[in-house]
Amino acid sequence: MTDLTPDRIMELGTSFWRAKTLLSAVELGVFSALAGGPLDAAALSQRLGLHSRSARDFLDALVAMGMLDRQGDRYRNVPDTDLFLDRAKPTYMGGILEMMNARLYGFWGSLTEALRTGEPQNELKTGGGNLFEALYSDPTLLRVFLQGMTGVSLGPARVMARKFPWKRYRTFADIGAAQGGLPVQIALAHPHLTGVGFDLPAVQPIFEEYVASFGLADRLRFQAGDFFRDESLPTADVLVMGHILHDWNAEEKRRLLGKAYAALPTGGALIVYEGIIDDERRRNVFGLMMSLNMLIETPGGFDYTGADGAGWMREVGFREATVEPLTETHGMVVGTK
Ligand SMILES: C[S@@+](CC[C@H](N)C(=O)[O-])C[C@H]1O[C@@H](n2cnc3c(N)ncnc32)[C@H](O)[C@@H]1O
Repeated sequence: MTDLTPDRIMELGTSFWRAKTLLSAVELGVFSALAGGPLDAAALSQRLGLHSRSARDFLDALVAMGMLDRQGDRYRNVPDTDLFLDRAKPTYMGGILEMMNARLYGFWGSLTEALRTGEPQNELKTGGGNLFEALYSDPTLLRVFLQGMTGVSLGPARVMARKFPWKRYRTFADIGAAQGGLPVQIALAHPHLTGVGFDLPAVQPIFEEYVASFGLADRLRFQAGDFFRDESLPTADVLVMGHILHDWNAEEKRRLLGKAYAALPTGGALIVYEGIIDDERRRNVFGLMMSLNMLIETPGGFDYTGADGAGWMREVGFREATVEPLTETHGMVVGTK
């Protein structure tokens, strides 16, 4: 006899049911519809266009998962879904979930093929180029992707704003800044700083719109460029690379780190942040899943441990490289020139 049960295996094996229920709720705008106040199932169904067969189970499943509350027959948002999943609020972070729903949910259906072939399973399967060329040829995908990046980076960016000694520096540049999620958080927390968001030209209007919505256009500007094709990266006291290195293979990672080193003044710092995998590669599930996600999304990208990141930094010349946790999922490797 054994005390073992299959419960946790079943729970993990069916976890995509829960994930997809939340992704569909974001797609349908459940949390935005309830931001104005509680509604009963009939009113909510009409707003969202739900079929009568699905509404009760869908909404009650969201209650059971703690994403909604129900009092009497009326549904309401709970505090975190109201703050982060109402499209009308500046704190909205559903972009990343919209992207997961619109793209990755389907692409991950081909994970087994990716595991066998090592080949990407996204838009690259049918077209050439790289992920960004594929994404940026469609204006809707471009916006969804860039907003999605803000959703991923907001939490780590807020911690980095507190943890890194920004008082010692005056300028920073976020390399591959996307919508500007990180530069905005750093600039809000440190009024003495001015910053640059460096990214491909297609990103400019979306970056500038987001920065202006926080009244930061006088301290954060966009610089268009290509970090592989341009001879050099922007110069600043601090360079940041968030979720950049994991998109590329080992040789490309080193090339980007070398360019960052060359662009920094002596005493300057490079902060690399993403879902840094623990050195023993047995705890950070998010980092390991992200690395599999890079298998789906890119020809050679992968996530890596803090020791790997610090080692590459020292190889390209940084005199010191240290690793620090940011959130449960994210960490930063800081190199000093
Ligand atoms: C995965 S996103 C990370 C965005 C942001 N740093 C964050 O962590 O939220 C990668 C970013 O790199 C940018 N990027 C990709 N290739 C680039 C290139 N060759 N030159 C400059 N930026 C590039 C993309 O446009 C995108 O904004």
